[in-house]
Amino acid sequence: MEKVQAVITGTGRYLPEKILTNHDFEKFLDTSDEWITTRTGIKTRHIADDNQATADLAYYAAENAIKDAGIDKNDIDLIIVSTFTPHMPLPSTACFVQEKLGIAGCGAFDISAACSGFIYGMSIARQFIVGGIYKNILLIGAETMSRFTDYKDRGSCILFGDGAGAIVISAQEQSDKGIIYTKLAADGSGWPLLHIPAGGSHRPASVQTVENREHYIKLKGREIYKFAVQKMQELIEDAMVQNNLSVEDIDMIVPHQVNKRITDSACGHLGFPTEKVFLNISQVGNTSAASIPIALDQAMEEGKVKQGDTILMVAFGAGLTWASAVIKM
Ligand code: UT7
Repeated sequence: MEKVQAVITGTGRYLPEKILTNHDFEKFLDTSDEWITTRTGIKTRHIADDNQATADLAYYAAENAIKDAGIDKNDIDLIIVSTFTPHMPLPSTACFVQEKLGIAGCGAFDISAACSGFIYGMSIARQFIVGGIYKNILLIGAETMSRFTDYKDRGSCILFGDGAGAIVISAQEQSDKGIIYTKLAADGSGWPLLHIPAGGSHRPASVQTVENREHYIKLKGREIYKFAVQKMQELIEDAMVQNNLSVEDIDMIVPHQVNKRITDSACGHLGFPTEKVFLNISQVGNTSAASIPIALDQAMEEGKVKQGDTILMVAFGAGLTWASAVIKM
């Protein structure tokens, strides 16, 4: 066991008040509540107000996590935000969050690994803690997906929602708690399956890119679906083997909320009963990097994840990227 453990000492989330239902989509798209529910498990998703953007959502979630951890915000040594929908292209969303918290001084940066971003962030944070560099790290997954969603594309727009989730990771000596395992992976050749073509240096914003709707998410859903079922299953099996865990040893899987059919298929195949897989996708949709920390906070609030529990996180998304983590809460 490491001398210093990276322990999750606080969780928080923020979901904007405005709710978009499946019936709302029926008013402007060729779709139905029945199709969306049976194909994805999603019923509603939260949408940011016009005056809110990613740093605002991140800040509210962060405040809740800091309160839950019971630490002074001035004791935060590092802020990491996982997002692909940043507040602005420059500077990082983490710097905006730091300003909102009023704690200038500590390091702050963003990471981009799409839906796997939160687990990537946890892996980075863990290294800083077990290496003895920092004592308290604020890690946030935050997305304003609605600003990059093409509401004329029925194959993708019904999936996404806005929100933020945050955790405080703290150094604890000789603890039996902590982030005990993370695995990160990617296959860059899969980028065409899920990307935003314009707005970066490759294809800067122009009248033409706007007219072509190139600033919105392009998703090849069917291809990702197959990849996701296979990867979710592989990641869970691998994490169980690497950590010598059986289905009985794992109290809860907290997966990226991508599609209820994907999760049901992968977890069911491995013998996990539905009560061991935390899903809130019906209420929040897919919030990318925010998905896992929002789910974790809700699971803790509902008493479905408790202190001492062993949980397994699993995610995959654009890149393509995929990742898993095992945590003793
Ligand atoms: O976090 C990572 C990012 N998320 C993902 O990558 C999502 C992964 N993929 C999925 O969740 C699923 O592939 C979707 C939910 C996106 C689509 O479900 P599907 O069962 O794979 O449907 P499909 O794309 O194969 O489409 C089946 C039919 C098509 O019609 P035809 O060609 O059979 O006549 C679509 O045009 O359903 C049609 N369709 C819709 N119909 C009603 C596609 N979107 C809709 C819609 N409403 N919103």
